[in-house]
Order: sequence, then C-alpha cells, then structure tokens
Amino acid sequence: MRISPTLAAMSTYPFVRLDERRRRLVAEGVDVIDFGRGDPREPTDPLIRQALVDSLTPESSYPAAAGLPELREAIAGWAARRFGVELDPAREIVPTYGSKEAIFLLAQVLVDPGSETRLVVVPEPAYPVYERGAVFAGAEVQYVPLLDENAFLPDLDAVDEETWRRTAIFWVNYPNNPTGATAPLAFYERLAALASEYDFALASDEAYSELWFDQPPVSALQVAARDNVIVFNTLSKRSSMTGYRSGFVAAAPDAIAALKAYRPSVGTAPQEFVQRASVAAWGDEAHVERTRAVYRRKRDLLVPVLERKGYRIAASEAGMYLWVKVDEPAEDVASRLLEHGLVISPGTFFGPSGEGYVRFALVPTEDECRRAAAILEEAL
Ligand SMILES: Cc1ncc(COP(=O)(O)O)c(C=O)c1O
Repeated sequence: MRISPTLAAMSTYPFVRLDERRRRLVAEGVDVIDFGRGDPREPTDPLIRQALVDSLTPESSYPAAAGLPELREAIAGWAARRFGVELDPAREIVPTYGSKEAIFLLAQVLVDPGSETRLVVVPEPAYPVYERGAVFAGAEVQYVPLLDENAFLPDLDAVDEETWRRTAIFWVNYPNNPTGATAPLAFYERLAALASEYDFALASDEAYSELWFDQPPVSALQVAARDNVIVFNTLSKRSSMTGYRSGFVAAAPDAIAALKAYRPSVGTAPQEFVQRASVAAWGDEAHVERTRAVYRRKRDLLVPVLERKGYRIAASEAGMYLWVKVDEPAEDVASRLLEHGLVISPGTFFGPSGEGYVRFALVPTEDECRRAAAILEEAL
C-alpha cells in the first residue's frame, strides 16, 4: 500500500526507540529504572478517580467538540485563580483530548500551505510534536535554537524581518521540555507584540506550568494584549492524568471558533466522564501541591550526586526534568547509564542543540530515585 511520503520520511519517534531498548533490557532480566519518557507514574488523586467513577452513566453518547459548559467554567475559574486572567468559558476555551492532539492539529487549523506565510517557527531542542504537526499540515518549518547563554529562550533579535513576515505560528514551551527553563512575562509581552504586528499566532505550550520547584511560572495569557496568543495546558502533568487525556486551549474568540469548526471532523473531544473528572481536578489545588512536593523530593535525591560528580544542572527551574550538562557525547552517556539499568534521554533526542546534555524525567518512584542515586554514585 502507498503511504504518505511525509510519514515515510519521518524518523521513528525517539521514545519508541528508547522503549524498545528498555524492553530488551527488561527481557534480559535487568532491573531497569526509567527516567526516559515524561509519563508521570504518580497515582491520580482519589478525589479525581472517584469523580470519574461517579460520572459513568448507563448510556454513553458522543461528547460535543465544544466540551461540557461546567468543564469550561472550571478551567476559567482555575485560570482566574492561578494567573489572574478572565476567560470567557463560552468563547475563549475549548477542552481537548490531552494537549498533544491539539498541538499537532494547530497548523492544520491556521496555516495555508499554499501561501507565503506558511512558516511555523519551532524551538529546538523541543517536544517533537510542534514540528510534526507543521510538516503534516504542509507548512514550512524554521528552527530557533534554545541555548544556555540565552537562558534557553529563543533569541528574538536573531530572527530576521523576512521570517517575521512569513510566520503563521511561533511555538514556545515554558516551563520548557527538555531544559526546565521558565520564561519571564517580558518575553511573552515582546513576542505577543510581534505576533500582533506581523499577525501570527503565538502558540504557548504550558503543559508543565504547575510543576515548579521555587517560583510559580507565569502564563502567556497574562500579556496585556492577547489577541494572537493561543495557550495549551493539560491535566497530564499537573494532576498525573496522562491516561485520562484531558487538556484545553485558551485563545481569543476567533481562534476558538476556528477550533470548534475544525474539531468535530477529527473527533478528539474527551469522553464526558473524563470531562467531569477534569472538573474535579481543575477545582482542587491540594493534590497539585502534594505532587510538587514529590517532584521536589525526587530532584533533591538526584541533584547532589550529579553535582558531586561534577555535572552542572542547567535551567531545570520547573517542569519534571533535570537537564544535565555532560562533557561527552550525550548518546554515549545515555548508553553507559543504560548498561547500569538507568534509562535517560540524550539531549539530541530533542534536537541538535541538545548535544552536550542529557535529560532525566523525574518519573520513577522516590525509592527508585534513591536507588538510582546510588547507581550514579558508582557509574559516573
Ligand atoms: C512539552 C509538552 N507539551 C505537551 C505534552 C502533551 O501532553 P498531553 O497530551 O498528555 O497533554 C507533553 C507530553 O509529554 C510535553 O512534554
């Protein structure tokens, strides 16, 4: 059968490769501790699980693409409490099936592949979905490096006039995966002003906004003029609900109207029982505070041994990752640690500027992190 040349040209999703290696080791009987994929393994809070159970109905209908009004209100309430922004639940929010599908689909909703303004600017290193979504939509991709010397922010001064003029979507992701860097409000203000000037979408993936160590991160929703700002958030990391698939997009009414026109064709509205469980999740902060405390403790188990061994922890201010500077090729360090049963991601998985770094996703249990610290003590 003929398949799409875009798909045929695509390399295997790096984590699929990592998972294959991990599975081989497990089959060989190696006790593997997996810091690879950023899939939280914390239990979902009982309050949320109960809300899901209580929402199961004898009949089950198609969920509406617009989402349940009570979920949109719960999201608006959370955004008001957390960021002090007022969102109209009817016109400025749409629930999504996690955030990945909405991130992937955005270019299809906004980009005209036949026009000059078909450029999607993506950071690198980065979560690969911004680029993949753009490529499948027939857009042209331009990469902007995230470098240590720029605090892992894209250097907006290095972007030329022609690029600004041709940009349809500019992706940013803070707290950042993989670097754990955060963005100040001034950065969002500047990029939002450019988005208004050149009429492109500032797409801000804020999947990790609730996992922070010291200071709560700001949101692109907080800029003075947010007409061209599109924010993606999710319960996956905040509430350890990756399996539920529940997120949202918040944006100006014209962008939300476009998503509501597009999404019924795709059929990615979350199930209603998941939406009702999500109402409980957005309404509760106590479980999020407990989750942050767990990630802090895991971080505190690993950072001292890495620093003692002479490794510098770059950024890693928020999110669930440690971005560790290494002097050897990142893939060599990852392979060496794999032999000791530790799965970590070489920075190159996320783009060429990830060379010289490895990423630890703080997803194993605290007990596993303690064991991993002992292994690192030996292996590094
Ligand atoms: C940067 C970033 N954005 C978005 C997502 C998607 O999360 P979800 O689809 O579970 O909401 C992830 C998942 O790992 C991520 O790392």
